[in-house]
Amino acid sequence: MALLDIRRLGAKVLRRKAEPVEEITDETRRLVSDMWDTMYEAEGIGLAAPQVGISLRILVVDVTNEDESHHRRALVNPVVVESSDATDKAMEGCLSMPGIEEAVTRPARVTVEALSEDGEPVRIEADGLLARALQHEVDHLDGVLFIDRVSPLKRSMLRRKWRKRKTE
Ligand code: NI
Repeated sequence: MALLDIRRLGAKVLRRKAEPVEEITDETRRLVSDMWDTMYEAEGIGLAAPQVGISLRILVVDVTNEDESHHRRALVNPVVVESSDATDKAMEGCLSMPGIEEAVTRPARVTVEALSEDGEPVRIEADGLLARALQHEVDHLDGVLFIDRVSPLKRSMLRRKWRKRKTE
C-alpha cells in the first residue's frame, strides 16, 4: 500500500491539461493501485491522477448510486462522448479543497468511453452520483475544478473560505 500526496488548490498541476496515457504498463497499474489507496484513506469517492501530482489522464471512482448499484472503476483516457440536456444540481466537494462544498449543476446523464487498467475498451452510461463523479474527475484531467462550475460570486466566496481555512 502506498499513499500519495494529494495536491491542494494552488498547485499548478491541478490547472494543467493532463496528457493521454500512450501505453498501459505495470507502472500505470501501480499508479492506479496507489490512487485507490490514497482515495480510500482520504475517504473520497473519486480521484484523478493530477490530484496526486501526475499529469496523466487516469481517474478512479467508487460510488453507490441511489438505486444501490455499486460502481468501482479505474479509467484510462476517459472521454465524455454524450451528455444529457437534462441537468441535475447537487453538492460537491473535492479532495483538493477539503472542507469546501457547493452545489454544482451538471448534465444528469453522461456516456463515458475509456480504457480499463487492462487496456480493454469500456463504455459507461451513467446517471446519478456516478454521472456527477465521472464529470468531476474528467474535469480534473482538463485542469478544471468544481469551483469553476459555480457563479463568479459563489466562486469568490468559496475562495475566501478556502484562504481563511488554510491560514487557521
Ligand atoms: Ni476533485
